[in-house]
Amino acid sequence: MEQIIKILVVDDDPSMLDLIGTALKSREKYDVILASDSETALSFIQENDFDAVISDINLPGMDGLELLSRINIINSKIPVILITGFAEVSTMQNAIKLGVYDFLRKPFSLSELQISVKQAVQKHHLLIQNELYTNNLEKLLEQKAKELYDANILLELNFIRTVLAMINALEASDIYTKGHSERVTNISLIIGQTMNLSTSELKSLRNGAIFHDLGKIGIYQTLLHKPAALSFEELNLIRQHPLIGEKIIRPIALDKEIINIVSQHHERYDGTGYPKGLKSHDISLLAKVVSIADSYDAMTSSRSYRDVFTHSQASDEIQRCSGTQFDPVCVEYFLKAASGQDFKTLEIPPLSSFMNVTL
Ligand SMILES: [Fe+2]
Repeated sequence: MEQIIKILVVDDDPSMLDLIGTALKSREKYDVILASDSETALSFIQENDFDAVISDINLPGMDGLELLSRINIINSKIPVILITGFAEVSTMQNAIKLGVYDFLRKPFSLSELQISVKQAVQKHHLLIQNELYTNNLEKLLEQKAKELYDANILLELNFIRTVLAMINALEASDIYTKGHSERVTNISLIIGQTMNLSTSELKSLRNGAIFHDLGKIGIYQTLLHKPAALSFEELNLIRQHPLIGEKIIRPIALDKEIINIVSQHHERYDGTGYPKGLKSHDISLLAKVVSIADSYDAMTSSRSYRDVFTHSQASDEIQRCSGTQFDPVCVEYFLKAASGQDFKTLEIPPLSSFMNVTL
């Protein structure tokens, strides 16, 4: 379909209006609208999308320069051609400053008029196309960025699912540890939210808690589930699991905090933990949180060798160990979170809901 090109001509001289209008219509398929003053011209511009405006500089009331200035405010993409008689240089300079597209000096030939208008229309079309292109490009970039973000989330979720499947398989072989990592993740996140941790810290806490016992993959199953008391050597072997986990996770984990949780979740605040005997501030805050959640779950889960603690008994035991096994600040937050709900009765949310902390 042929595009309609709209031209507005503004002149207080009816014969000039008629002359320009007739000339434009005769050689190009222009839709020409005529106005005898600036006010009328502005009302037309408000209602129509013109491809070019031709205006005399000398108009009654609002002159051509002010009209040009007002057109710029309404739609700066419309090229304006000013018709001059004996205009002063300063007037022309002002018109240039205001962004006039071209001047037609009286007397001008009809071919001069045609060429100037044709070029002005071409410029207008280029500006429109450029704007469309820029808008589309921005939308395209926005869409691609979102697709990339979603793909990354999916990739991360699939990676965590794979690791969790491995851990679940490991834990499922022992009735006493089944679901342990998921429960520890859930409790760690509840404590972390009570501490008002940032989204990125919660994300590290989540991943680290899921992975915290990954190193047990490297320990003999018979040793992990031995019903009898462990010898000193056997205990030392089991105590290697944070370091084995660190070795597994280091090449794939992007976040140092996740590695810290895996390697430090059995360290104790007073320095008597393992594998390195780290003390208070040398232990990562997130590892301290997972350490509390890990101990709580161990105490409240059925074990073959001792009685199961209630929520209240486990909370009391954690409070008793504040300042020795656990960081007192983290214990405070644990107790705050634990006072409102019994962690033992909590349903474990699906992994996808843990993923919300990546928002
Ligand atoms: Fe552990």
